[in-house]
Amino acid sequence: MAGKRKLEHFAEMRTFPHVFEPTLEEVFRQPYKLIGNWRKTVFKNDNPIVLELGCGKGEYAVGMARKFPNKNFIGIDIKGARMWRGAKTSLEEGLTNVAFLRTRIEFIDSCFGADEVDEIWITFPDPQKKDRREKKRLTGPLFINRYRQFLKREGIVHLKTDSDFFYEYSLNEAKLNGYPILEQTNNLYAEKIEDFDIDTQEILSIKTHYEGIFTEKGHKIHYLKFRLHHD
Ligand SMILES: C[S@@+](CC[C@H](N)C(=O)[O-])C[C@H]1O[C@@H](n2cnc3c(N)ncnc32)[C@H](O)[C@@H]1O
Repeated sequence: MAGKRKLEHFAEMRTFPHVFEPTLEEVFRQPYKLIGNWRKTVFKNDNPIVLELGCGKGEYAVGMARKFPNKNFIGIDIKGARMWRGAKTSLEEGLTNVAFLRTRIEFIDSCFGADEVDEIWITFPDPQKKDRREKKRLTGPLFINRYRQFLKREGIVHLKTDSDFFYEYSLNEAKLNGYPILEQTNNLYAEKIEDFDIDTQEILSIKTHYEGIFTEKGHKIHYLKFRLHHD
């Protein structure tokens, strides 16, 4: 039965106007049709664009869209079954400032144009602990170079994770590369929430699916915010 429901969700997703599932051909054989056109074609406004990478069910993308109607949000993940949840909820609520892109994050620089994106959220990524997996880490040099292709000059990257390893790794990468660090805490919920600016307080109050699970298990939640300077 679960398999059948999954197929129904996949079929339903194809009818959603705010879900994009480009084929490899569409992304690589030609410039993807939405490159440089996300604001104009999808959102029909000039507002900033914020991505959530590895969005899962999209709690952050949808939660931020509710709180910030003057920004556009795009949840990105390869797993359609999870993405369906956020896509369905946002449609039911009539949110017009959130969309979903089903693709591998490895292909992301073929989906957005130069300076098209203002901010990136990375929420509870797989830490990819083994040495040889560094190239798969979403805050590693390979991915950071992809983000540079489309992130604005003063663009911001946010990371929320329960992994000590991934937090330390990301903080170190930011320091090594001289990226200005705007916020860092290895125990978010022990901090005085009033110490963050109002927008950050609002955003940090949203919990993702995995965050709920990790928090219940007593894991500390780490948060890092840095600016990705272009050369
Ligand atoms: C641990 S889950 C976190 C999901 C969600 N952010 C949360 O906090 O509940 C990691 C997510 O990243 C997605 N993911 C991992 N690597 C990916 C990749 N290379 N391209 C696209 N999605 C990826 C997985 O499909 C999964 O949904």
